[in-house]
Amino acid sequence: MSIIQTPQTPGSQPFWVLNTQNTSYAYGVNELGYLEHVYWGARLPAYSDYQGPGAYARRITPERYSHEEYPAWGDYKFNEPCLKVRFADGVRAVFLKWVDSAVEHGDGVDTLTVTLADQHYPLQVKLVYRVFEAYDLIERCAQVVNSGGEPIELEQVLSAVWEVPRRDAYQLTTLNGKWGGEFQIQRVELPMGKQVVERRRGASGFDSNPFFALAEAGATETHGDVWFGALAFSGNYKLVVERTAFEQVTVSGGIHDFDFSWRLDGGETFETPVFVAGFTEAGYGEASRLLHAYELAAVLPQETAHTPRPVVYNSWYVTEFDVNFENQMKAAKLAARLGVELFVMDDGWFGQRHHDRAGLGDWTVNSDKFPEGLGPLIQAVKALGMDFGIWVEPEMVNPDSDLYRAHPDWVYHFPNRPRSTGRNQLVLNVSRPDVQAFIIDFMDDLLANNDIKFIKWDMNRHFSEPGWPDAPAGRDREIWVRHTRGVYDILRQLRAKHPGVIWESCSGGGGRVDLGVMPFIEQFWMSDNTDPYDDLFIQEGFTLAYAPVTRMMWVTDANWINGRPFTLDYRFHLAMMGVLGMGADLTKWPEADLDKAAAYIAVYKEIRDTVQFGQLYRLRSPRESALSATQFVSADGGESLVFAFLSASVFGEFRTMLRLQGLDADASYQIDDHITLSGQALMKRGLPLALKGSFVSQMLRVRRV
Ligand code: DGJ
Repeated sequence: MSIIQTPQTPGSQPFWVLNTQNTSYAYGVNELGYLEHVYWGARLPAYSDYQGPGAYARRITPERYSHEEYPAWGDYKFNEPCLKVRFADGVRAVFLKWVDSAVEHGDGVDTLTVTLADQHYPLQVKLVYRVFEAYDLIERCAQVVNSGGEPIELEQVLSAVWEVPRRDAYQLTTLNGKWGGEFQIQRVELPMGKQVVERRRGASGFDSNPFFALAEAGATETHGDVWFGALAFSGNYKLVVERTAFEQVTVSGGIHDFDFSWRLDGGETFETPVFVAGFTEAGYGEASRLLHAYELAAVLPQETAHTPRPVVYNSWYVTEFDVNFENQMKAAKLAARLGVELFVMDDGWFGQRHHDRAGLGDWTVNSDKFPEGLGPLIQAVKALGMDFGIWVEPEMVNPDSDLYRAHPDWVYHFPNRPRSTGRNQLVLNVSRPDVQAFIIDFMDDLLANNDIKFIKWDMNRHFSEPGWPDAPAGRDREIWVRHTRGVYDILRQLRAKHPGVIWESCSGGGGRVDLGVMPFIEQFWMSDNTDPYDDLFIQEGFTLAYAPVTRMMWVTDANWINGRPFTLDYRFHLAMMGVLGMGADLTKWPEADLDKAAAYIAVYKEIRDTVQFGQLYRLRSPRESALSATQFVSADGGESLVFAFLSASVFGEFRTMLRLQGLDADASYQIDDHITLSGQALMKRGLPLALKGSFVSQMLRVRRV
């Protein structure tokens, strides 16, 4: 049982300990009735190890901060509030006290719901804690209930605040980046004050990802205390990491309050997104593995979570918008010869979509490009033994489109203001039920009338002029939440209607990568930047939070970003460390390269279970040395793969012993059918590696004998 509650003897205050395999999280009700945080970290053996809140905690410290599990705004304290509201009479101060609680036991997941209520107004907050014992993780969310008759305006409603123990210093890790350079790991000593990880553009994106890690100073991939978490939301969010002058360190997170307002009518409930967090004593590597395992077991759509992902070919970088039956079939024939399992046609197949200036929103097949519709292409692709997939960007419209001409009011806009375009497109107001119905209808038609097994759902610009002039009264600023919820709802409905379709989330690369959309998709397009050296860095950051089974990357020709060539080996090795795809112009490849690619794809099919469902170890970071390496260990421990990349050798420094992880010390392992070493030797002495040159790579298969 992972949730322990004190026996409630008369006069005693309730106190809870949420235990996972290796961690404890404790809080209780203080003598004034407020819910106070007590501890989060390594599991403590005895109940008496917790000093009850009544014993020492003060509701508000002399420094005017509280340790509340869900601080509301209004009294004489200065925490980042989780809740800020305005009651119908104009009062804007909230006082939340404990009312009751309930525990529900599930299969590996126990749930504790603690209800707090305002002392005067009909406002309740239910704090939900779901304890994932096996993964050392706790999901938190809040349900705000208006139990009265008059509306309450919500001005800030976060999912949770996580408080970490007092330490002398903390390292804060966040994932920041840009288009073509997503998921760059940023690690700084946590300064006093507030660090804000946020998005205010309508959707999660490149410049920051809703993930954090706070670690003790000096923590590494393998050692050190790390508290970490991720918010499950794809719209505007903020994570506020605060270190006060009095060494209280907290991470408050949830939907961003920027331009946000939500009208909660009597009887209504507002539920926040989930904010999941965990603790490990074994460094950043273990933090990632816990998240990866949790994503596979509890976040990804369970009907496909454990099904191997197919090898994909996508022609975007070859044909761009100029798709037609002939050029797609040319690519498809070669892709099939290589062993590709899923052929995807990207942008350009619909409306007047000859470039990015027109046609978006007109989801009928372009009859010049495909005179008989998609049927012949799909049949031909299937005859080659592959499934067929297609690209869409349902939340967007080009002003030069029939859709926009018919429904200019369907985009976010303000009267008397321009409608700024980005990539020549505007954002459809997916908060509107009629826009949602339009998207569901055209997607349903597309999937019902064509044998499509894969959808790449793209999203290529963010919000500006976010007006909704004909919104129901007082609800126009709800778009920041309604849009994202609308997308989730559409995906939920389409998945239910069309089981067996694989969905990929793309947003101009790895823009919409988060746990919020993950329950509705199988994978993420990691980046438009397919330069494999740049991708080493993107991949490293991506895997900090997200499982390799969700990461799609293609082998392409030299891309225009850095314009440098790489060997086929290097390109394949990089792309094979997740879900493998191809996006090169195969018609220009010499026979020898096609044969080599076929061989790599065959190997990938042998090893993909280990890559997609195994444990990932980041052995060496590309940020720290010219030689970087990643290791995967299969679920049963029988196979391990090592991918090593050397950017440039320096004379005398190219031989190394790479210490592996996650093996059975007592077992023997054969390396690429050559030498045999014990697990102990591989982990303690290391795997001999001799790479030299520039941009060279190696994949080693290590098998238990
Ligand atoms: C942006 C995506 O990231 C690309 O892969 C491609 O699908 C284009 N959009 C198509 O417009």
